[in-house]
Amino acid sequence: MNQNNLKGIILAGGSGSRLAPLTNSLSKQLLPVYDKPMIYYPLSTLMLMGVKDILLITTSRDQSLFKNLLGTGENFGIKISYEVQEEPKGVPQAFLLAEKFIGNSKVVLILGDNIFYGHDLTNQLVNAASKDCDATIFAYRVQDPSRFGIINFNKDNIPTYIEEKPKASKSDFAITGIYIYKSNVVEYAKNLKPSERGELEITDLNNIYMKAKNLNVEILGRGIAWLDTGTFESLQDASFFIKTLEMRQGLKIGCPEEIAWRLNYIDDRKFGDISRKYIKSPYGNYLKKILKEKK
Ligand code: DAU
Repeated sequence: MNQNNLKGIILAGGSGSRLAPLTNSLSKQLLPVYDKPMIYYPLSTLMLMGVKDILLITTSRDQSLFKNLLGTGENFGIKISYEVQEEPKGVPQAFLLAEKFIGNSKVVLILGDNIFYGHDLTNQLVNAASKDCDATIFAYRVQDPSRFGIINFNKDNIPTYIEEKPKASKSDFAITGIYIYKSNVVEYAKNLKPSERGELEITDLNNIYMKAKNLNVEILGRGIAWLDTGTFESLQDASFFIKTLEMRQGLKIGCPEEIAWRLNYIDDRKFGDISRKYIKSPYGNYLKKILKEKK
């Protein structure tokens, strides 16, 4: 599939209540993960997949802050548009809000608080997106399955059912916050009913695809890091993880300007201009340094 036909949605609303008071006046997805706002990481993941048309869904309170940070996407050589989610009524609500944006395109949804990193990850995501299946989800082994959507497999490793945050899970495979669907996802999302907690559940949506035998499940292996930022500890751990790798290699993780430049979405001149804007920050020094080193 031509990745230009793949559109992207970043869901970055929610109440952030589990991280209060950090989130009392600032969106969770704008909190720092080491040296960048959290949103840079899922944005970078989409950009590495070749997605150039992205809808960012936020609360109305925070939309202007995201616009201030990311603008139209021009600095990254992509197009970013914005939509408000008035209340956090569940992850699949993103598809209802994005109906027009999606049109007839395939779409990848990433949660604004999910960080992915690892060797060959981009290839795996791109290959999955190019498969002709209605829905693709990505599972990853975790130690604490009760915090996530969990996928169960039978003894032949065939996926059987998905449960949202089971108290006692038989499986250790969490569903990560990146999902790829054909445009029929909008119709499926329209037919979902709110769960007991009053939200549309991404798990219900994926179970529909699974029952119809239209769900492709990809396993992200142990060489890949999937970090979540849902608790104070995991937020801090994510910062240390990014810091450790960046300090070791002298290369940044989740730097959208660098990705845009390496993918030739922006030229040397524009990249240089951006680096000068940040010149008092090590971030700007980094951009300047890699520009000098050339691709
Ligand atoms: O991170 C992966 C997990 O994300 C999956 O394993 C679960 O199946 C899925 O339900 C979800 O679980 P969470 O408990 O992490 O969902 P949470 O309500 O925290 O929302 C995840 C992100 O999406 C968070 O950044 C806030 C945003 N969000 C969430 C909801 C429900 C919205 O922007 N709007 C919403 O209505």
